Amino acid sequence: MRVIIKPDYDALSAFAAERVIEKINSADKSRPFVLGLPTGSSPIGMYKKLVEAYKEGRVSFKNVITFNMDEYVGLPESHPESYHSFMHHNLFDHIDCPAENIHILNGNAADLDAECAAYEEAIKAVGGIDLFIGGIGPDGHIAFNEPFSSFQSRTRIKTLTTDTRIANARFFDGDPSKVPACALTVGVATVMDAREVMILVNGHNKARALHEAVEGAISQEWPITSLQTHRKGMIVCDDAATIELKVGTYRYFKDIEKM
Ligand code: GLP
Repeated sequence: MRVIIKPDYDALSAFAAERVIEKINSADKSRPFVLGLPTGSSPIGMYKKLVEAYKEGRVSFKNVITFNMDEYVGLPESHPESYHSFMHHNLFDHIDCPAENIHILNGNAADLDAECAAYEEAIKAVGGIDLFIGGIGPDGHIAFNEPFSSFQSRTRIKTLTTDTRIANARFFDGDPSKVPACALTVGVATVMDAREVMILVNGHNKARALHEAVEGAISQEWPITSLQTHRKGMIVCDDAATIELKVGTYRYFKDIEKM
């Protein structure tokens, strides 16, 4: 696993965006490039830089297919805090990705299990995900795979923990009870099946999760530790998030990534 340590959030976002641009531009053009995408505050800087790069003509999303990680259950798509709204506002409304290439789970589907099964099939049908980008929760969750989610898990409905509802209350007038109680989410295995996984981690409040992700034992208690076994797993973090890492770990990754 690679750990790229950047001085601040802006540098982290720039690195992540350049990685995406490079992967899209160098991909085999005979088939679409398939991106897995997150929501949350962590990727906002990267999305801004991707939009800028698109406007500068440095990247096109015409041949890109996207699959988002998760969506709340029961929240109207038009709600400002739905992940549909988030993605359109922060990315899709500003780039040239064809509408039919965009996949976001429907948290209002009549049959939620069928919706999840169809999502896995749709990912398979396009040949799998080339690059899955994610953030992490302070408890080490990826997408909405809360602590103790199975490493074998697939797209499904999950009940959100109180901790996650409190963490996300900032988007719902500060009231955890307004955060939907359930979400549809890709599974840990759905993410780990991607040919490459890049996780963005910034800020002091993610320091414990970053420590577990990098130095902790592999355990379903911390879903992000599954990344340690991925053949092409990468964490991009800022300095603020590294305060719980051992000095030796910090120096090791700084040393091997300095080139
Ligand atoms: C939510 C999302 C996760 C995201 C996490 C962290 O729970 N489902 O995919 O990684 O929030 O969000 P933030 O980046 O805002 O810290």
